[in-house]
Amino acid sequence: MSKTKDALIIIAAVLLALAVLLLVVIVVMDRMKGPNPGGDTGRADTTAFTEPLPETSLSQETEPAPESSTSVDVTTAELTTEELTTAEITTAEITTEELTTAGETTAEPSVTQPVVGDWVPVKIEGATDLGVSSKGYLIQQKDGLYYVGGILIANKSYPLPSDYIPEGFPVPMVDQVISKFLPDAQAGYDEMKVAFKAENPTAAGFKIQSGYRSYLTQTRLYNNYAAANGKAAADTFSARPGHSEHQTGLAADINVVGTWTLLESIKNTTEGKWLAANSWRFGFILRYPEGKSDKTGYIYEPWHFRYIGKEAAKAVYESGLCLEEFLGIDSVYPES
Ligand code: DAL
Ligand code: ZN
Repeated sequence: MSKTKDALIIIAAVLLALAVLLLVVIVVMDRMKGPNPGGDTGRADTTAFTEPLPETSLSQETEPAPESSTSVDVTTAELTTEELTTAEITTAEITTEELTTAGETTAEPSVTQPVVGDWVPVKIEGATDLGVSSKGYLIQQKDGLYYVGGILIANKSYPLPSDYIPEGFPVPMVDQVISKFLPDAQAGYDEMKVAFKAENPTAAGFKIQSGYRSYLTQTRLYNNYAAANGKAAADTFSARPGHSEHQTGLAADINVVGTWTLLESIKNTTEGKWLAANSWRFGFILRYPEGKSDKTGYIYEPWHFRYIGKEAAKAVYESGLCLEEFLGIDSVYPES
């Protein structure tokens, strides 16, 4: 009887040990399987969308965005402006399939650009959205041209295509002087001349000293300055080819009639003072104001005016900011 009892105890102990072992095996196997895929949301990993990244770098802004990034806006609808800028750039490596998956769960894209006074920023139709500036304006690219809030930008960060010639302008020869603007800017300039004469009947008046300059003309000009002064110095007052506003047909150096050299002293003339204070009424801004070199990338140029439209010019003038500050963009060559 005692032997039978001992045998039963041993069998019971063995069975218990086997049960414990089986339980351990089940638990270990379950852990090795990981989370149940069916229990996940099934949407692509969107960590990259919200991952904080350093502020948009210049080279990122100037890089053309890949086609696949155009639908990224959908996912970023809930993000802040800062995150949105980062998100749109971050998603360049995400596949179209992932974007579609992510987009299914979120709202329509919406970037509300800040309105300033009467100026309502524009979204260029048919353009590729590249991101949002630090002031919340859409950065877009169309036909190789960059727009911020709908304003065409040509500076150290945002180049123009080397073959870009504004509509209606001839294919120019090197050094050919074309003292005219694109039609809207030309109308603003003509109106500005009439107003100046009416308000300053005895003054000499002003003229376009250097208007449209082709890529080729700018190349010649910049290379001459670089050879004479060194590249670093030239970069402070002359745009490298493809980076000059003179290639847009929307900018000009304006001088006093009878004066041939562009001098800073124009700021003390009747013409220079009046232009600085009134050009906004006709859609122009003083593009490189005094004390803004770290933002514009260029020295103070009291002669260089850029047409951006009456509402925008009024908003920029009243802000006291240069265009880069106003729009929240940089002007630095990518390799700097
Ligand atoms: N002087 C200006 C920056 C230009 O060369 O376009
Ligand atoms: Zn100029």
